Formats: sequence, C-alpha cells, structure tokens
Amino acid sequence: MSQRTFSIIKPDAVRKGYTGAILAEIEKAGFKIVAIKKASISKAQAQGFYHVHAERPFFGGLTDFMSSGPIFPMVLEKDNAIADLRKLMGATNPANAEEGTIRKQFAASIEENAIHGSDAEDTAAFEIGYFFAGLELI
Ligand code: CMP
Repeated sequence: MSQRTFSIIKPDAVRKGYTGAILAEIEKAGFKIVAIKKASISKAQAQGFYHVHAERPFFGGLTDFMSSGPIFPMVLEKDNAIADLRKLMGATNPANAEEGTIRKQFAASIEENAIHGSDAEDTAAFEIGYFFAGLELI
C-alpha cells in the first residue's frame, strides 16, 4: 500500500554538494517527491524536531549540527516507503552501512550522516506536519 515518509537531506550533504545525487538515488528507488523545500532551522526548532532524543547524550551535538546550515526537508511516497527509505539510507553509522546505500556513499560519521528518514508511521506524521502544511503536499 502506498505510504508517505519524511526525509531530510542534512547540512553536511548540502554543504558538500550531494543534494542532487541523493535525490537521484531516491527517485531511482521509486519514490515520488510529494513536497520538498530548502530550509534553515534554529537550534530550538531542531530540538523540537528531535524531542524524542532529548535525554540522549548526543542531543546537544545533533541539534547544533542540524541548525548549522541549509537542509532539504521532503515528503516521499511509495509502497512501503518508511521501511524502504531506511533500507536505502543504510545504517545510522555509515561505518556499518551496506555498499550502495546513501550513507555508505555520502555520509562521514554517525552525526554527519547525510540523511534522515522517519522510523514509523506516527513519527512520519509528526515530522511531515513539523515542516509542511497540508496544502504543500502535492
Ligand atoms: P537520524 O535518523 O536523523 O535520527 C537521530 C540522529 O541522531 C541520527 O540520525 C544520528 O545522526 C544521530 N545519532 C544517533 N546516534 C548517535 C550517536 N551515538 N552519536 C551522535 N549522533 C547520533
């Protein structure tokens, strides 16, 4: 069944000029881009987005990093989108990511890991609503 997920091309990948190459991988894998924009978020906005990780030791570094430069938030659609995007992204730590995955190709470290993808339907719904209004989903 067709499903939507939420993704972000993170500041490291945008800085390095990998945006187009990552979007090409996403489209090649069969995802439709329902919405996409360039954004720049504050530390407080990054904290809101990652609130489920607030107690983790990496929360400060993660939210500094995510507010360090432009990002491309987007909504993607295909059958089994949530699981399929996570497979295409590869492991959180690029050192453990399989060959051919986005993180294996474009990520530098567990923090600067190029791309975010929702991990479940409820988080996808929250994350889509955090960045996009309903009228922007086409
Ligand atoms: P993401 O999928 O965006 O969701 C939470 C992020 O926290 C994750 O990608 C990583 O970039 C980051 N993260 C997870 N574990 C660690 C860690 N041990 N150290 C630093 N960052 C982490």
